[in-house]
Amino acid sequence: MQNYKSGELTLLDVPVPGCKPGGVLVRSAYSLISTGTELMKVSEAGMSMVGKARSRPDQVAKVVQSVATNGVPATYRKVMGKLDSYTPLGYSLCGVVEQVGAGIDDVSVGDVVACAGNEHALHAEVNWVPKNLYTRVPDGLAPRHAAFGTVGSIALQGVRRGEPQLGEVALVVGLGLIGQLVVQLLAASGVRVIGADPDPVRCELAERLGAAACGAPSSPAVENAVAELTGGHGVDQVYLAAGGGSNEPVELAARLSRDRGRVVDIGKCSLDLPWNAYYEKELDVRFSRSYGPGRYDPEYELEGRDYPIGYVRWTERRNLACFLDLVARGRVDVEPLVSHTADFDDAVETYRSLKDGGLKAVAVLFRYPGHTEEAVAPELTVPAVR
Ligand SMILES: NC(=O)c1ccc[n+]([C@@H]2O[C@H](COP(=O)([O-])OP(=O)(O)OC[C@H]3O[C@@H](n4cnc5c(N)ncnc54)[C@H](O)[C@@H]3O)[C@@H](O)[C@H]2O)c1
Repeated sequence: MQNYKSGELTLLDVPVPGCKPGGVLVRSAYSLISTGTELMKVSEAGMSMVGKARSRPDQVAKVVQSVATNGVPATYRKVMGKLDSYTPLGYSLCGVVEQVGAGIDDVSVGDVVACAGNEHALHAEVNWVPKNLYTRVPDGLAPRHAAFGTVGSIALQGVRRGEPQLGEVALVVGLGLIGQLVVQLLAASGVRVIGADPDPVRCELAERLGAAACGAPSSPAVENAVAELTGGHGVDQVYLAAGGGSNEPVELAARLSRDRGRVVDIGKCSLDLPWNAYYEKELDVRFSRSYGPGRYDPEYELEGRDYPIGYVRWTERRNLACFLDLVARGRVDVEPLVSHTADFDDAVETYRSLKDGGLKAVAVLFRYPGHTEEAVAPELTVPAVR
């Protein structure tokens, strides 16, 4: 848990949630720290009030709206209460079903499931998870790999938004956790991939996991690879998966795209689109939202109302199942992305070392009491990034 006002991180003992109808109680085996996304939250909490406001203009807009509707005193009390409460962290885990709520007939006690969502797949020993936010883990898939399900679904949704086609060439800008998964999903779809990231270790990892060539964002290595693989036309699609506040990724995307190429924004990076460059190539800019259709719809996520498959082929639950299937069949390899596995009891210390840079990691797993499973040897052996 994290106190958003003080930035303090702590492990709290709280009552085990009840098993409500429409969901299952899951005892965690492994949960994944998505280091880029979670550290952004952790760093935000350590900022001054002005810093917090600057980094979350969306929340400031809500406060302004609340002042207009409810007045200053009521809004002040609400904001202070919210800031001073503990917010749980985590959104991607794998565990074992411990109790089945009324209305659930697709899993039983003892089944291994992957769970998604920053309200229901928390770094916690036990979570209650509604039906559309869990899926059964395929036989033979290691729980520590299934814990990548949510983050894999984010990457998968990004790739679906790009509508890749066999034979195309893509550029992935930002080779962190999401970017590494996007590279592998594109390669599995028959697309040749060029990667760009200032970190040479991450470039090397992406090349080992399927990218044709990688290099620093505006380096000759990237520009030459684009020229060579596309016959000078430019890439068919660009995936923006970078962190940080630089506008370089959107500028690079325009420069290296072909005429009428597609640019998919997955990352929360600067998006000051250079108008002339995007206009002249008539670039198609698309956003990718979270794990897929169903996200943020309470009827889908909390009440378990599915969308008909004929109309919505890939919902967030079907994305989760699809990603796990790709990992189980060896089309995506997540083991090289695990930089460190920590016992859950050491959670606070682990976040601290990530934050102060003592632990450099693409992804970190928390292992929960009672789960001693070691890494399963991946089919593709590449060294983990540490
Ligand atoms: N669309 C969604 O639903 C969704 C969900 C989760 C995360 N995100 C966003 O996706 C992005 C990636 O997340 P992550 O977990 O992989 O983060 P990460 O920190 O693991 O990776 C970010 C990578 O970007 C690289 N980078 C920084 N500046 C760059 C630049 N100018 N050009 C190229 N690369 C650069 C870093 O070296 C790093 O490797 C973040 O912005 C995150 O907020 C989006």
